[in-house]
Order: sequence, then structure tokens, then C-alpha cells
Amino acid sequence: MVILRSLRILGIETSCDETAAAVVEGGSMVCSSVVASQAERHARFGGVVPEIASRLHVDVITDVIARALVEAGLDFPELDAVAATHGPGLAGALLVGVSAAKAIALAHGIPYIGVNHLEAHLYAAFLEEPDLVLPMVVLLASGGHTMIVHMIDHGRYVVLGRTVDDAAGECFDKVARFAGLGYPGGPAIDRLAIDGDPTSIRFPRPMLDEGYDFSFSGLKTAVINHVRNHPDDDLPDLCASVQEAIVDTLVIKLMRAAREVDAKAVVIGGGVAANTALRTRVLDEAARAGIRAFVPARWLCTDNAAMIASVAWWRLHSDGPTSLASGAYPNLRLPVVG
Ligand code: KG4
Ligand code: ZN
Repeated sequence: MVILRSLRILGIETSCDETAAAVVEGGSMVCSSVVASQAERHARFGGVVPEIASRLHVDVITDVIARALVEAGLDFPELDAVAATHGPGLAGALLVGVSAAKAIALAHGIPYIGVNHLEAHLYAAFLEEPDLVLPMVVLLASGGHTMIVHMIDHGRYVVLGRTVDDAAGECFDKVARFAGLGYPGGPAIDRLAIDGDPTSIRFPRPMLDEGYDFSFSGLKTAVINHVRNHPDDDLPDLCASVQEAIVDTLVIKLMRAAREVDAKAVVIGGGVAANTALRTRVLDEAARAGIRAFVPARWLCTDNAAMIASVAWWRLHSDGPTSLASGAYPNLRLPVVG
């Protein structure tokens, strides 16, 4: 597999509100990574508007891909393969990236690889730490998903738990929206929480003793009720307390899972993994438990195309190219074993 090792793959990501392209060589060497965020264009609606997202992807995708190639110092003929997120995500948004990737594959006679966005978040850590040893347990927490995954080997996953209602990122976003902090809410709460007291308001930690599943909708309601009843409460205190409840729940379950499956490492991924308190807590708790923890750089936690190109390298290696007749899969799930 000497030839495969050095493959240069162009990755494309358009599943939600980031238009991204990146070139990754050999599965882990990032030659370039460009992310054009639409967040500002959705902010006044308090969340992502699917139709606007698709149209904005169409507007910028050619330029984002061109920038990724220039940054990598390459042109299309020097690429070995092209990959795009084909699910899960917003249907119209996914189709933009998938169609662009297929067009490039056809025009340049290179393989196309359709990538699972959730699997890509699992792999983001490998871009910084290619020698991470498996099995490991990954907390994947984003705007649409919250799950604890036992990564037994490359391509072999068991989902130990997932949210039964809202995702952790969704909880951050909805609480922030209610408190008038705009979209996306996670970064805003993260910033304000720095000046707040996390013990000032005791919010519930739902399902703490019930396996590895999560539930965040009750917490969201508790926060909204609290704000209605105490409109003059200090905002940083509120943010720090909500954040503490979310982080507590995520980290307690993550560490419990790591101990139970005897994981060699714990890793976090997805946009919520950019959260300052979560990052610190995971490192502290893992050190206390004597388990290695890996917390990827923030840009690798939020949506990007380098993680898409990285997974594509592994998938091409194990499964070969994806048919150009395949489509976009808005409800795609993580492929699991057993
Ligand atoms: O992975 P991601 O970029 O997109 C999805 O695949 O959903 O995650 C976006 C989510 C949003 O809910 C956003 O509020 C949250 O990640 N997020 C954060 C932080 N940065 C992004 N949540 C808490 N603290 C942050 N610093
Ligand atoms: Zn994501």
C-alpha cells in the first residue's frame, strides 16, 4: 500500500452551514484547509435556514475549492481522489458538495468517495495525532448529534449511548437564543461563562445514572423556566451554570464508558468539543483515571473538510471508491458493528 499512503485527497464539506474544502495527503498530513462559514447569514433567523444554506454553498463552493488548491500549491491533475460528505445533513446542502465532488471526479478521471460526516468527526483527532492507539472511546457532540462511540478499530464502531432528544450543541444554541445571545450559541455561552460562577444555579443533570444515553431537552426547559422566573439574574452566572450541567453530564458518562470498555484513550470531537470547560474537564478527569486523553485543536472539532479527506483515505483503503450513481443521505447513521 505504498502508493495509497501518499494519496492526495481533496475533501469537501457542505452538510450544514460551513462550506469547506481541504487537501490531505496520506490520510493525516493537512496541505490546506479552507472554511467559509455562513453563520452570520443565518444569525438573524436564530438557526440554520436550509434553503439559504444550499444557495450560499452554491455561491461560494467553486472559490473555496480553488482556495484549498492554491493553499496546497496543487492543481486538479495532481489530486488522486476527491471526497465529499454525503450524509447526514441538510439534503440540499449535501447535494452541493456531492455534485461538486462528482463533477471533479468525472472531469479529472479520479475516484470519488462519499463520506459519513459523523465518522469524519471521529477521525478529526487522527489529523493531529496519527498514532492514536485503538480501542478508544470518543464523545461526539455537535449541533445535531451527541453520542459516545467505542472505536474498536478503524471502521469498527459501537455506539454506547446517544441523546434521546436534543443534541448538546442544540441545547447550547436554544438556551443562547432564549437569552438573546444569537446564533451559534455555544461559543457565546463559552465566552460569557468565563466570568460566571458555575455553582450559582443548580440545573438538573438528566439521566446521569441511566447508562450512556443523554437527554438535554429537560435541561433546556429548566433553564428557560429559570430565566422567566429570574429575569435579572447575572448572565455570566447563568451561562456558567448551564455549561457546567452539560459538561458534567457529558464527561461523567464518557469516563464511565472508557473505564467499562477498558479504552486506551478518550477523545472528543464535534463542535461542542471546542468548549473550553469541556476540554479542561476531559483532560483533568482522564489524568485522574490514568487514561490518555486527546483533545483536538478547536478548528478540528468544528466542521471542516480536512476530516472528510482523512476518512476518505481510510475508506478508499478499505472499501474502494464510491459509485458516481450514489446520492446524498440526510439521515445517514454511523456504520456500527454487531
Ligand atoms: O460539529 P459542528 O460544527 O456542526 C455540526 O455538525 O452540527 O457543531 C456545531 C455546534 C453548534 O451547536 C455550536 O453551538 C456548538 O457546536 N459549539 C460550541 C462551541 N463551539 C461550537 N458549543 C459549546 N462551546 C463552544 N465553544
Ligand atoms: Zn459536524
